[in-house]
Amino acid sequence: MREWLFDVFRERPWWMSATMIFCAYMAFIYMPWDIFVKPVAEDQEVWFGILFSGFWAKVLAFPHWFVYSAAVYGFRRRRPWMAFWAPAYAAQVAFGIYLWTAVATGGFSGIIVGLFPAIPFVGLVYAFWNNRDYFDPKPLALTARFGEWALVTGASSGIGSALARQIAADGMKVVLTARREDRLVALAAEFERDFEVETRIVVADLAEPDGSKRVLEAVSDLEIGLLVNNAGQGYAGRFDLLDGERLRRQLVLNCETPLVLTHALVQGMRERGRGGVLLTGSLAGHLPLPLHSVYSASKAFDRFLGEALWAELRASNIDVVVLEPGSTETEFQEVAGEMAHPGHRADEVARRGLRALGEQPSVVSGWSNWVLVNAVSRLLTRPILVLIARARMIKQLPEELH
Ligand SMILES: NC(=O)c1ccc[n+]([C@@H]2O[C@H](COP(=O)([O-])OP(=O)(O)OC[C@H]3O[C@@H](n4cnc5c(N)ncnc54)[C@H](OP(=O)(O)O)[C@@H]3O)[C@@H](O)[C@H]2O)c1
Repeated sequence: MREWLFDVFRERPWWMSATMIFCAYMAFIYMPWDIFVKPVAEDQEVWFGILFSGFWAKVLAFPHWFVYSAAVYGFRRRRPWMAFWAPAYAAQVAFGIYLWTAVATGGFSGIIVGLFPAIPFVGLVYAFWNNRDYFDPKPLALTARFGEWALVTGASSGIGSALARQIAADGMKVVLTARREDRLVALAAEFERDFEVETRIVVADLAEPDGSKRVLEAVSDLEIGLLVNNAGQGYAGRFDLLDGERLRRQLVLNCETPLVLTHALVQGMRERGRGGVLLTGSLAGHLPLPLHSVYSASKAFDRFLGEALWAELRASNIDVVVLEPGSTETEFQEVAGEMAHPGHRADEVARRGLRALGEQPSVVSGWSNWVLVNAVSRLLTRPILVLIARARMIKQLPEELH
């Protein structure tokens, strides 16, 4: 509990923590009571200094609830939109209080008296504005946190390329691994030219029994401080129609490989007293996906493994995070046999994952995906959830695979 409290309140000025606690009180205690328990006739809400009563007060309590809930999240997770939003909302409160008091007092004295209760909030606007950098975390400083070398699996395309590029741009030397050597060679040349970092290429098939071993041998002379377990594949279609051997290989690639690499490389990180591990999971690790059943099961494995290791290894100063993308525009859909559908950009997804490393056990990329996982999927019963997921998957697959 002490550790958790330290984690929640470190790095933030005391007055910002106090504001966050107030917002948490409003979001979790006061607003639910105000909305669901308080009689409509007694309800009052003030927005921009205007007092609303009865029905309209009840309706306008919902945006208030949303505002306080978003603020708790924004403070806790240092969301960039808070840099503008926190001073803007404090300014709205200052203006509202001023207007309210000035009108209630009346006359010329009202203009002066209104200033007194508004001044602390003007101070808060000033403090938020002055500290807006807090919501724009500095460069990742990966080398200082984890050491010189990172190992990225599945670096030849998509999210893996983007992760490797951002890690190299931050100054870490990178070991790039995948099966397509030409892609890795081009990427290594780009990193050496643009970021002046050393690279190493390891060509390996990580679905083969000796794939992970080959990678480990190839990096045995390096101190790998950051491991990115990103290589993964989908293989979509009705379970009984799919090739059993390919399903098995998918499981080796998505589950066994990250397990073996993490287990081997975490030993050195523990000895050095620092390290980082990122696992690319998936939204599918939260939702059982009919017609993608083995893939979603494999990503549930990654999620459980990573989240559990986050708690196990943090005392050894090893950060673990599971990056959980939804649809992302990469080669994934084509390889999995899905029909093309829109998705997020790989570089945005990668950025989200690296930012979350050291902050939380897992991160879902994209707010709509977050809502899907944290609200919608918890409200629906399992049969309904799985049937909706099936209906959606059917739209993404050619008919012969249903
Ligand atoms: N794109 C999405 O919509 C999405 C959504 C959720 C999660 N994800 C996850 O994101 C990760 C990256 O996928 P992506 O979207 O970037 O797809 P991608 O563009 O297809 O990249 C997959 C990477 O994995 C490598 N790989 C595949 N099979 C391999 C094998 N047998 N041995 C070694 N490397 C192998 C590929 O390299 P080679 O082919 O050169 O070997 C490639 O670099 C995967 O774990 C995937 O499950 C993707």
